[in-house]
Amino acid sequence: MSRTVYVNGAYAAEEEAKISVFDRGFLFADGVYEVSSVIRGRLVDNRSHLRRLHRSLSELEMNAPASDSEIESIQYELIARNELDEGIVYLQVTRGAADRDFNYPEDARPTLVMFTQKKQIIDNPLAQTGITVVTTPDIRWARRDIKTVGLLAPSMAKMIAKRAGADDAWMVEQGFITEGSSNNAYIVTDGGVIVTRQLGHEILHGITRQAVLKLADETQLHIEERPFTVAEAHSAKEAFITSASAFVLPVRSIDSIPVGDGRPGPIAQQLRALYITAVLAES
Ligand code: PDD
Repeated sequence: MSRTVYVNGAYAAEEEAKISVFDRGFLFADGVYEVSSVIRGRLVDNRSHLRRLHRSLSELEMNAPASDSEIESIQYELIARNELDEGIVYLQVTRGAADRDFNYPEDARPTLVMFTQKKQIIDNPLAQTGITVVTTPDIRWARRDIKTVGLLAPSMAKMIAKRAGADDAWMVEQGFITEGSSNNAYIVTDGGVIVTRQLGHEILHGITRQAVLKLADETQLHIEERPFTVAEAHSAKEAFITSASAFVLPVRSIDSIPVGDGRPGPIAQQLRALYITAVLAES
């Protein structure tokens, strides 16, 4: 069934929607995006996603295409028009269309594109089994904290994982895990400490990460925000990932080495349950 999408002020059937071939998102990956999950027709953690959108925009000296309340009302209009109960709303802002030039144009009007996508997030079968990951060099640029649409390196990482028969890739820089191809990465040590890389330019500042670490802290779980090595990951008691479209998913093997007993660990399962409960309470 054809979706209704949003492009620059208008709703259109997905086959009809158009943007310029001169759009800098297309020519230079000069654009940023956000993915907000939708549960029972309600956006999850959307304020935080919009806050991060502004941060990405300002790091690139790009103007906001609309106010937050306008953006949120478009998101809800798309949810309604597409009868989306569970899934995601994708939103992308690019610098707009201009003659091809590496310098930013002075006067381009930002492009705003949004669409919905159905996805089973809560009853994800991978939550029962856990996912498998392989490690691969992190070949991305140096500003991974800006959520740009330049996603070729993570796509390549995902393909490496797929060809190795794994669900996802964890990216490695100087012996340390940075993050997953499209999610934040965590291990749990023998002593029960949750370890995840600290915020910086090396990783995306995950919105789900922020919410889940807050829940972990409130549950008196111990957290260390620091880099961890591939060797630590291989010998971890548990491992898991977080993202808007996955929430919390346990990792059951890393480079074909079982994590713990090779089944989803209790801390990952507890955090997933806590986050789902918090999200359902909000919706
Ligand atoms: N990905 N790290 C990377 C590299 C990501 O692309 C994402 C999100 C995350 C998790 O961030 P959040 O919790 O805010 O979703 C971490 C989205 C879901 C995507 O590209 O589809």
